[in-house]
Amino acid sequence: MVSNILKNILINKNATYDDVVSLLMSDDKSIFESANFLCQKYKSNFIHLRALIEFTNICKNDCLYCGLRCSNKNVQRYRMSESEILEMVKKSVNLGYRTIVLQGGEDSFFDTDKLCAIAKKIKKHDVALTYSVGEKTYEEYKALKESGVDRYLLRIETTDEELYKKMHPNMSYKNRFDCLESLKKLGFETGTGSLVGLPNQTVESLANDILFFKELNADMVGVGPFIPHPQTPLFNENSDNFDMALKVMAVTRLLLPDINIPATTAMETIRTNGRVLALNSGANVIMVNITSDEHKSNYEIYPNKIGSDISAEKATEEIKTLILNSNRKISKNKGFRFE
Ligand code: 5AD
Repeated sequence: MVSNILKNILINKNATYDDVVSLLMSDDKSIFESANFLCQKYKSNFIHLRALIEFTNICKNDCLYCGLRCSNKNVQRYRMSESEILEMVKKSVNLGYRTIVLQGGEDSFFDTDKLCAIAKKIKKHDVALTYSVGEKTYEEYKALKESGVDRYLLRIETTDEELYKKMHPNMSYKNRFDCLESLKKLGFETGTGSLVGLPNQTVESLANDILFFKELNADMVGVGPFIPHPQTPLFNENSDNFDMALKVMAVTRLLLPDINIPATTAMETIRTNGRVLALNSGANVIMVNITSDEHKSNYEIYPNKIGSDISAEKATEEIKTLILNSNRKISKNKGFRFE
């Protein structure tokens, strides 16, 4: 019974595989209420804002779900210059952001030397710095850490091996885990997460994803609904995965009560007020897109990504209003897991 499972989680901060499957199969609203309760208890009433800069949409990978996959020839590809990136960082700092997230495709132009040089310059500002640039070797991650990068995001996407292999041609399932282990070992605040609603993904495999976040002791977990992109092989797949994505997020909060969990852009894209619902169901972070207008619309991982048509200033204002209207406060801290 859901109420017994929830009671047990509140006491033991853990759950069995069967418990997690039962929660994911249930429509009981108390799952979201418990996640919200734990979020406010462990993370307080404050929401952390992160400035997201999408600095290159060039990617060598061919992930079946992603609009930026290398086989998609309809994308206008771009790569920001270092000075463009630093301009955007400055703008973010002026808008009050305390965390900068640099996200991009796996673009070999930005080798470790370049990424380290950029990190050192960004870290001259008083900000936390997150990189999200895919799979690298232990040595490369180490160099990034030594250049001042504080956090790293690398979603596992799915722990279902067969599904992983289908979705990620020419990529190694094992290497994905090894990368996350390296990041943890090097002392990065490590973020991971999953896509929810991939073709043939099962509730059982989503339960395994959540147990994996717990086992890794992830510091951040981003969960988003899969949204079919018209220029990918998955264009025809069913797309309303909002409810399940929200549930996976909420159950993640139950098992990892003190981590940072974003209300993801993908949630807002497929549901009006999706982010407010997420903030009321265990999320405590919002990533705001600061990428310049010139490039934003070309970073189309999935279609109709919200925020693609408004300026950084306006996006920031909107998010602040949304948070205050949800009776939450905006944190002025950098928002590390342990503060
Ligand atoms: N729908 C939703 N999320 C997607 N991502 C990539 N493609 C899609 C899609 N079609 C997510 C992946 C990746 C993150 C940056 O965007 O999980 O890790």
